[in-house]
Amino acid sequence: MPIMNSIIAPPQTGLFSSPSGHPKKLLAGIPPFYETPNGSAYLGDSLELLSKLPDSSVNLVFTSPPYALHFKKAYGNVSKADYVEWFLGFARQINRVLTDDGSFVLNIGGSYNPKTPTRSLYHFKLLIALVEEIGFYLAQECFWYNPAKMPVPAEWVTVRRVRVKDSVEYVWWLSKTPFPKADNRKVLRPYSADMIRLSKKGVRTTVRPSGHNINSSFDKIDAGGSIPANVIDDQTPSDMLVLGNNSANDNYTKKCKEADVKIHPARFPPTLPTFFVKLLTDPGDIVVDPFAGSNTTGSVAEQLERRWISMELVEEYLEASKFRFTD
Ligand SMILES: C[S@@+](CC[C@H](N)C(=O)[O-])C[C@H]1O[C@@H](n2cnc3c(N)ncnc32)[C@H](O)[C@@H]1O
Repeated sequence: MPIMNSIIAPPQTGLFSSPSGHPKKLLAGIPPFYETPNGSAYLGDSLELLSKLPDSSVNLVFTSPPYALHFKKAYGNVSKADYVEWFLGFARQINRVLTDDGSFVLNIGGSYNPKTPTRSLYHFKLLIALVEEIGFYLAQECFWYNPAKMPVPAEWVTVRRVRVKDSVEYVWWLSKTPFPKADNRKVLRPYSADMIRLSKKGVRTTVRPSGHNINSSFDKIDAGGSIPANVIDDQTPSDMLVLGNNSANDNYTKKCKEADVKIHPARFPPTLPTFFVKLLTDPGDIVVDPFAGSNTTGSVAEQLERRWISMELVEEYLEASKFRFTD
């Protein structure tokens, strides 16, 4: 039984009226599973769906594919040995559909080798293949700091105590050309108390042990906020927390529980796509998530007035993702 009608909001609002139109036009002839004023969600294999998108039509692909874990998760993982080969098929399509100033941001977790306390290199091998075989550029390697990760594998972390808890995931920011569209002024953080104190007090001309010159004009630089680091955590400015967090009481989780619908087991927090959507796109740009899950990316894009296309293989997940667009 569907949760609601397939059109979530009437097309009079949002970006339907923009000259380039609703993003469903890019997949003409393929009926979306649902649509909103700014985007469409498609049920199906994204390898197939991506192949239908026109060349150079997408500004940002932001996604988190199933990771190559050595145990199988509910949503389907391919083995580590086959992972790079499997993913390159999608990557070729992603590269083709990106505009020349477009970016491909890939969130991927590390993992342990089976039965030993040593780490797999699969995500590094994937990164190298994306650059050397597909032709992407590595714009920057970023990290998602997630202190809520479980202390696993229990054997090494909590039983034998020979490894520490993992709390970062990799976020490879790749681009089609060396100069993707990006503007860090769109993701400034509030200045720290120390920085505000310095700017009031002024600084002495000095040379840091690293050799960097700090001169007195430094205190006059007020760019409206500090340039964020490449570690994305939950200390983001309030205007970046567009949709609450990933906690047990966010709207999506609450509604899934009320409707007794399965909550997606591997969501990322809205702050992660929010950061990159703001950094790398403008309102009206097209954002695609080919492994959409609970469609966190689409809902962030909707709020930020970007047009979006999301693709997901599992109907149950896509059906529940409609909750992200209610209220
Ligand atoms: C890590 S989850 C993404 C979660 C998402 N970022 C969120 O916040 O909800 C990966 C998703 O990719 C989907 N998936 C796997 N293979 C796919 C394919 N070939 N086409 C479309 N979706 C696929 C899985 O069903 C799963 O929901």
